[in-house]
Amino acid sequence: MQSQSTQVVIVGGGPSGLLLSQLLHRAGIDNVVLERQTRDYVLGRIRAGVLENGFVDLMRRAGVGERMDRDGHEHHGFHIAYQGRLDRIDLAGSADGQTVMVYGQTEVTRDLYAARDAMGGKIVHEVADVALHDLKTDRPYVTYDLHGDTHRIDSTFIVGADGFHGVSRKSIPADVLREYEKVYPFGWLGVLSETPPAAAELIYAQHDRGFALCSMRNAKLSRYYIQVPLTDRAEDWSDEAFWEELKRRLPVDVAEGMQTGPSIEKTIAPLRSFVAEPMRYGALFLAGDAAHIVPPTGAKGLNLAASDIHYLFEGLSDHFLRGDDEALEGYSEKALARVWKAERFSWWMTSLLHQFPDASPADLRLQQADLEYLFSSDAAQASLAENYVGLPY
Ligand code: APR
Ligand code: PHB
Repeated sequence: MQSQSTQVVIVGGGPSGLLLSQLLHRAGIDNVVLERQTRDYVLGRIRAGVLENGFVDLMRRAGVGERMDRDGHEHHGFHIAYQGRLDRIDLAGSADGQTVMVYGQTEVTRDLYAARDAMGGKIVHEVADVALHDLKTDRPYVTYDLHGDTHRIDSTFIVGADGFHGVSRKSIPADVLREYEKVYPFGWLGVLSETPPAAAELIYAQHDRGFALCSMRNAKLSRYYIQVPLTDRAEDWSDEAFWEELKRRLPVDVAEGMQTGPSIEKTIAPLRSFVAEPMRYGALFLAGDAAHIVPPTGAKGLNLAASDIHYLFEGLSDHFLRGDDEALEGYSEKALARVWKAERFSWWMTSLLHQFPDASPADLRLQQADLEYLFSSDAAQASLAENYVGLPY
């Protein structure tokens, strides 16, 4: 058994774990990241790409904002298509000049890895059988296997940033952990293609045939989604069938003007709302997807990870640098208060724009009234904009 010690062990090298590792290292707090996959695998995952201001600020604070500021695109609004109309949500106009940044999660992760490498950050890839021990004591430790050898790291704290399927949340005893879950009766079929975006801003489409979304990564790379039944399989969708179905759900002029091409990536993702409480158990702190999942409508997943990391970094740096535990003690409550508001928003936006297979005629009329109210009320648009750009930390 090989042993070492550090101040914070971070389980999971996704955006949450890497961002925290970078912030801690810059503050002089020693940490080790344990990641189950290879770096190429982590960078191969295509996820959302709309960043709130809070996320953008945190990237800059972590010293990794340079490429994002250069290559990211500031968006002042987005569109909602419904019943043959195309209406715009003026984010900047409705939310005090606030905007969002379009910059892919893959690029965020790439920038974080580059920064960690440049500073000599400790990231161990391809670890197996990570196990957390003695979490309720002041001497917790983590064990894992690497290429057949068992390793042990002693630390003051352990951060579970290992996503929804990780080991950290499962290490909290069942009589302590409360889990809240809502599974939606459909998925999103997503396609990435090397084509110019259908429009300069995102288009969320509500349609009788199901939801559709036109998004982008940059001027040459587009990201599209359509709502599909959970029984569908991505490999059964040809590119032609995907483009045809997408176009049927979009306003005619958008569909006619858009360029299509071969898909670079095509996957189906289920939609889920999930929250685990509390986000702390003894020396273990959960962050990001390990503690909560939102349906992707509204692009809150990555942004919620960032607010967790913001609160957690505050707590850990106060502990190590000032001997003050107040922020750390309040972490779970503070993070969850923001999490639940983003859960509410993501659920609402999902309900507004999707076709639910079991919807009654009354449900359909209520959904229609929700959309009509939205575009007849400045207050409703301001509420949507305020949530979309991100509630304050
Ligand atoms: N041991 C070590 N690493 C693990 C383990 C484990 N037992 N289980 C999972 N991991 C790793 C995964 O391989 C993954 O790289 O933890 C990482 C978790 O990363 P994400 O799932 O990306 O979660 P997070 O970093 O919280 O990112 C927030 O925002 O846009 C959303 O869901 C999207 O991933 C995104 C999330
Ligand atoms: C994306 O670009 O992948 C994306 C954008 C907005 C969303 C979800 C996903 O709401």
